[in-house]
Amino acid sequence: MSKKRVLSGMQSSGKLHLGNLLGALENWVRMQEDFDCYYFVADWHALSSNYEDASELKDNLVDLGVNWLAAGLRPEKSVMFIQSLVPQHAVLYLLLGMITPLPWLERVPSYKEKLENVANRDLYTHGFLGYPVLQAADIILYKADFVPVGVDQLPHLELTRELVRHFHKIYKKTVFTEPEAKMAEVKKLPGLDGRKMSKSYGNAIFLSDSAEERDRKVAMIVTDPARVRKTDKGNPDVCHAFSFHKVFTPAGRAAEIASECRSATIGCVACKKELAKNVAAYMAPFDAERAKWVGKPGQVIEMLREGSAKARKVAAETLALAEAAIGIDIPPA
Ligand code: TRP
Ligand code: SF4
Repeated sequence: MSKKRVLSGMQSSGKLHLGNLLGALENWVRMQEDFDCYYFVADWHALSSNYEDASELKDNLVDLGVNWLAAGLRPEKSVMFIQSLVPQHAVLYLLLGMITPLPWLERVPSYKEKLENVANRDLYTHGFLGYPVLQAADIILYKADFVPVGVDQLPHLELTRELVRHFHKIYKKTVFTEPEAKMAEVKKLPGLDGRKMSKSYGNAIFLSDSAEERDRKVAMIVTDPARVRKTDKGNPDVCHAFSFHKVFTPAGRAAEIASECRSATIGCVACKKELAKNVAAYMAPFDAERAKWVGKPGQVIEMLREGSAKARKVAAETLALAEAAIGIDIPPA
């Protein structure tokens, strides 16, 4: 039996952080053992909300590739590629655009939210409205069975499925596969201040941070605000450092720490020193692997170019089927 296909993408819109590693990347790495995996850099998607300043996209692209390799993605196992090197994404996006009812796009929750909340950038563009149509093209070009994504992406997956059905109904041919979202069981990690870890909140530990920088950030994690002196009894349930312990510290020791905190027999400084040590141990293999790639942007790009050539073959086949279904395939001379 052939393996089911998995596809997912990341925007090249910022440096990756620890939350991305635990929440997405580690899951991608696990999946490459059991599935036929396609992972790509969504550089056009990154452009859709930052079209005026693309200056960081190139560096971010390399940073993504480096972190993917450091986390354990391997070109022998997964096809890793760059969206903009597979022009079929743009063509299918255009064709899907012909049949996408505008209200379907206007009601996508991320569209309305971002339009309302992002004040410093102009998002009143065709490209931004069409973001989920491009995402649908990304997915169905590869006839992906599963798409590992977070909850925030579920409406995009639903729209993708609707577009597949809509296409098949209009053109009376079955070309695409309706993809399913695959939610990962991931370890939940907050940012240093307890909010969601995010570049824009300034509360992130980046995968590119040095070991020293990471230690400094661990020391800054917000603890139980009611515990002012070391003699005050603490409450690990409201301490964000303890949320980190739950991820990085063996369960038995984490339980001990919780009771030592409650009885004020461990201080926050010692507690976070121990945490920093555990985070460092967890990250050591990643850091070592990262060090191998970080000075070799040329090789990383080459790897992504080779993956893109493989992706183009698959994408071209599907696109040809879609064009034939619509009836715009050009007959041979
Ligand atoms: N929208 C996704 C995000 O912001 C990135 C993305 C683009 C994607 N195309 C995709 C994810 C296709 C999965 C499948 O995270
Ligand atoms: Fe948090 Fe540890 Fe301080 Fe308790 S001792 S409040 S768990 S940092």
